[in-house]
Formats: sequence, structure tokens, C-alpha cells
Amino acid sequence: ALLSTKGLLETAYRNRSAVFAFASHNMELMKTIVEAAEETGSPVILQTTPATLRSTKVKLLAAMARAIAEEARIPVALHLDHGDSFATVAQCLRAGYTSVMIDGSRLPLKENIALTRRVVEMAHPMGVPVEAELGTIVGTEEPSAAVDGQAVFTDPATAETFVSHTGVDFLAPSFGTAHGPYKGEIRLDFPRLAEISRRVSIPLVMHGASGVPENSIQLAIANGVSKINISTELKQAFTQGLRDTLEENPSETDPRKLFQSAKEAVKQVVKQKLNLARPIPG
Ligand code: 13P
Ligand code: ZN
Ligand code: NA
Repeated sequence: ALLSTKGLLETAYRNRSAVFAFASHNMELMKTIVEAAEETGSPVILQTTPATLRSTKVKLLAAMARAIAEEARIPVALHLDHGDSFATVAQCLRAGYTSVMIDGSRLPLKENIALTRRVVEMAHPMGVPVEAELGTIVGTEEPSAAVDGQAVFTDPATAETFVSHTGVDFLAPSFGTAHGPYKGEIRLDFPRLAEISRRVSIPLVMHGASGVPENSIQLAIANGVSKINISTELKQAFTQGLRDTLEENPSETDPRKLFQSAKEAVKQVVKQKLNLARPIPG
């Protein structure tokens, strides 16, 4: 069965470790991510964006994740990434998601607090934890909605107020990461991250982790990050693997075979990431 994201992240947080959350755009990715996690013996979070919900539908995504989790030798959780409305969250709660994110980061602070609080009041009675975002993480997880905004780093004092007013379980702060590939040099504000962690004392979430150097990922974990989101690197690996297959075997038409190298490439990336988090005892 799918496991509670809350237990997974709190155990990771206590052990100064992290659980990786991978964008699961389709069945091939979902299966491959879990296979890779089984090979490294790590718990894993499968996450879907509102765009994936629109293309594949929530019932099918939840059913696939449940079926995969049932056979898995490691804990698997299912998360809504960047939930865009109360309605989207409600849909995922009904379908059995084990955690949800409400992303009110584009709203003025008061409205972000109000929306997040409403989501917490709906999710908690169902035993489901909530992730929220404060500050603006640049880039976009859904290129269709692309507006390259200005990064607004999260203020630690505001983060403390935000968490106490909303009762949120996990917080995604803005401290220098960006969604998508990085254009220039990556500069992460670790003192800010550490101060946010000290003030909120809940697991922090690192968005935009594709392209972040391994030592920075480990430094982020040491400073309070317990959930690390990866999307872009999986999409790139999948596409490159598929492109190679199509070029090397132009006459192949069996869809199962066409995806083999794509899956293998994704698996390598997932395993490489999972090995960055130290094992969690138990
Ligand atoms: P990347 O695409 O940069 O890995 O970001 C993923 C993410 O933050 C999903 O919420
Ligand atoms: Zn994100
Ligand atoms: Na990124």
C-alpha cells in the first residue's frame, strides 16, 4: 500500500536525511522510479503536477501508484506537486494521495496563508499532510505556463509566521533554486535556509533540484531539507534514451521496446540521486 508521506519525511528530518520526490509523468516513469528505489533500498515519493492530472486523470494515476506500491519492497508515497487550487487538492485527497502541495506562492502573503490554511483544514482530518510554498521559486515546472519571474527569497521571520498561521506540515522556501535547467551559475543561500529551518522546525522541501551539484544537495539536507524534487533531469534522460533508440533502430515499432533505453536512462538518474541521501535507519 502507499505509505504516509508524513512519517517518511519526519523520519528523514530527524535523521538529517531526505526523501527524493520524482515527477511521475506517465506509467513508464512511475515504474522505473520505483524499480530504481528498490535497487538502492530507498523510500521514494511519486509526484504528479496538475498538468499530469489533466492529461492522465487522477483515478488512473492513483491506481497505478497503488498497484506499483503494493508490489514494491520499499515505501512509496504519492504526492500532488504544485497543487493550483482547492479543487485540485480535494480531487487528490478523494483519490488517496498521501500528501498534497498547495502552491499559493504567487498570491499576496495574507491570501497565501488563507488558502493554505483552508487546504490544511480539509486535509488534516483525512490524515493527509500538506506542503506549501512561500517566496517565489523561479522557472516553471510546467513550461506551458512559463513566465520567467524574479526570484523572491523567503524571509525567515515570515516563514515562521506562515507556518504557525497555517499549520502546514512541510515548507518549500525560495533560497536560490530554480525549476528547469539552470542558465548561469547556481548560488544557494544556505545561511537563509538554515535560519528558516531553525525557525519553523518542520521538514523543508527543495524545489528545482535538477542541475544542483551533488555537494549542494547534501549541504541542503544538512540544513533542514528533507524532501527533494526532481523533474527536469528525468525528462531529459527519458527523451535522450528514446531519441537514441529511434536513431539506432529506425525500424523498431514495438512500444515496449521503444521505451527500454529511455527507462534505463531514467533509472540511472534516479539511482544517482537516491545515493545522495544517507540511509534512514529502520
Ligand atoms: P526541476 O525540474 O528543476 O527538477 O524541479 C522540480 C520541481 O521542483 C518540481 O516541483
Ligand atoms: Zn517545484
Ligand atoms: Na532545476
